[in-house]
Amino acid sequence: MIKRMNKFRINRKREHLILACQGSRCSFTTLYDDILLPHDSLTTINPDETDLSAAICGIEVKSPLYINAITGGALVSESVNRQLAMLAKEFSLPMAVGSQFAGISNPQLKFTYQVVRKYNPQGVIMANLPATATLKQARAAVEMVEAQILQLYLNPAQEFIMPEGDRVAKRLLANVAEICRTVSVPVLVKEVGFGIGASQAASLAQAGVRAVDVSGTGGTNFARIEGRRNSSRWWTPLASWGLPTPLCVADVAVNGPNIEILASGGVDDGISALKCLCLGAAAVGNAGGVLWRLRNQGLAGARKYTANYLRQMQVGLALMGKRSLDDLGQVSLVITGRFKELLKQRAVNPKYYWRRGY
Ligand SMILES: Cc1cc2nc3c(=O)[nH]c(=O)nc-3n(C[C@H](O)[C@H](O)[C@H](O)COP(=O)(O)O)c2cc1C
Repeated sequence: MIKRMNKFRINRKREHLILACQGSRCSFTTLYDDILLPHDSLTTINPDETDLSAAICGIEVKSPLYINAITGGALVSESVNRQLAMLAKEFSLPMAVGSQFAGISNPQLKFTYQVVRKYNPQGVIMANLPATATLKQARAAVEMVEAQILQLYLNPAQEFIMPEGDRVAKRLLANVAEICRTVSVPVLVKEVGFGIGASQAASLAQAGVRAVDVSGTGGTNFARIEGRRNSSRWWTPLASWGLPTPLCVADVAVNGPNIEILASGGVDDGISALKCLCLGAAAVGNAGGVLWRLRNQGLAGARKYTANYLRQMQVGLALMGKRSLDDLGQVSLVITGRFKELLKQRAVNPKYYWRRGY
């Protein structure tokens, strides 16, 4: 029985990698077009003079971009993780491994995760497990990759659509609180592309979580990925389920608790990243964008994508007249269209962002 479960899980991991790169993106607006960053035609800063350094869960990092959780557990994961680790090392990016359940239940698969530490011994690495994991599993995941941060993920929409999915756990928050109290590294809680809003962030902050990665809609769409693994199409209306990433960031920043906010879910370029940082995020994660380049254009394509991403951030910062990310929380944004309407619906007065820093 255990062997059969492992086989299912390994196949699922492989299918996720394939389907994520084959038309499983969100097809609806990401809202970034509704946000204008302030242009400073009198800027005295050149892109090369900008400093992208940031901090994630108290750990100082050279740029606010991290490679988010993608894979581990299937044989193909080893090669994906190896190349992502090389990329992470080259650009000094923090990196998360994918869910480590497979490696915990079958030690023979540990190498598909540990390759990340092997190729990036000094890097910032995040362990990854579902928020339903036991304390013992959480400790084992951290130890497996010598992680500096533990990511716990929430994925009810994915589980409900997945043909072999689990039901939600009733003691979820108590479980998260116990893990936060006991593991030796900071814990961040993330979604997988459906979003975390202010009220969930408040509960998570109370549970002792250090940061939330809102991981909203706009990028990888797990309703589509899991839906396409179903034999019927009952799930189709759920393909647009979830909250867009910029809305989640603003909601948590304005209505939420005092908690570190990380933005992922369709944050696919350096300018979208800057917009998330201005809305209140401390750093940004990317999974689907970098994975697509890696699978379709090889390591060279992923390298170019990452270099462009960071360059876009530097140029954007310089064009705002900013040398560092420190005072992005003070820049005034122009917010229009659907995003403006959505903010009002979440009781966020768009004026909050309009005339900051004056
Ligand atoms: C192929 C694939 C596998 C993923 N597996 C995991 C996982 O194991 N654990 C997790 O927390 N998130 C997982 N994610 C979700 C990402 O970490 C991220 O939250 C989500 O894809 C949204 O970001 P994106 O739009 O940049 O892809 C996975 C994403 C992809 C593309």
